[in-house]
Amino acid sequence: MNATSSMHRAPRIRKAVFPVAGLGTRFLPATKTVPKEMLPIVDRPLIQYAVDEAIAAGCDTLVFVTNRYKHAVADYFDKAYELEQRLEAGGKLDLLQRVREVLPDGVRAVFVTQPEARGLGHAVLCAQPVIGDEPFAVLLPDDLIWNRGGPGALAQMADLAQARRSSVIAVQPVPREQTGSYGIVATDTFDGRHGRIRGIVEKPDPAIAPSTLAVVGRYILDARIFELLERTAPGKGGEIQLTDAIAALLGEQPVEAYRFQGTRFDCGTHIGLVEATIRFALDHEAISEQARDAMARALAELGVADST
Ligand code: G1P
Repeated sequence: MNATSSMHRAPRIRKAVFPVAGLGTRFLPATKTVPKEMLPIVDRPLIQYAVDEAIAAGCDTLVFVTNRYKHAVADYFDKAYELEQRLEAGGKLDLLQRVREVLPDGVRAVFVTQPEARGLGHAVLCAQPVIGDEPFAVLLPDDLIWNRGGPGALAQMADLAQARRSSVIAVQPVPREQTGSYGIVATDTFDGRHGRIRGIVEKPDPAIAPSTLAVVGRYILDARIFELLERTAPGKGGEIQLTDAIAALLGEQPVEAYRFQGTRFDCGTHIGLVEATIRFALDHEAISEQARDAMARALAELGVADST
């Protein structure tokens, strides 16, 4: 296969991969029975935000890479006939609508299993039979990106991928002491929001990090990545790293780093999940005022701020 051929055949992405096979140990005991991706941000599970972002970017095939403990994710995206019938019979059309919006008509969910936890790169490789030979998106649901009133991060990236006919990786600047928690990219000159990547390294020590531009969990990748992943040896943490396969891709094709518009919440951490909950509650059509009052009361009671 020609290294860039798939880009030319299918310039707009249609398929999105959601690696959801992680154990979610940070959120134990909650995640003893509930997968991390099903933890709610106000009234919707975390995974729904990433799914909505992919659909808004034009994706109609959602590939969930799961493991045997994640039945709740598959159940959630399955059609709930009984529930829908009951809501309909009870005239609860608003709720019915919300349940149906979980997976809109015309969008399909496909589940593939990652039999062993061998890393993010391996999880993405598990999706290959469904993706085939076209460019595709990867969304890590832990990274919740909110661009209030504007296009989602993946839609922004899809525009750039199409314009440049290149793979695109979302980035944001982080404090240098945090480089060890992220993939870090080195770019040529940054033109406004994007720049061509010339190097990428997984979780470097701050002392040797090539920059402070961190990879956030959104990728648009050429299908060539699969062949490179097959050849990728275990890297950081003994896992097959997506970052290492992207480093190999750089030698063959252009890959752009894109600084998205929007706020990213790291919902893989307690504080990130709480902060996202606060922000979405404050902006929620039904409860925003009550959320403001509740927050002011809480701060006042703790003596942190005046409630007036
Ligand atoms: C993964 C990637 C890392 C990236 C991060 C973004 O790491 O390996 O390159 O910066 O997601 O959230 P993880 O957070 O799964 O350890």
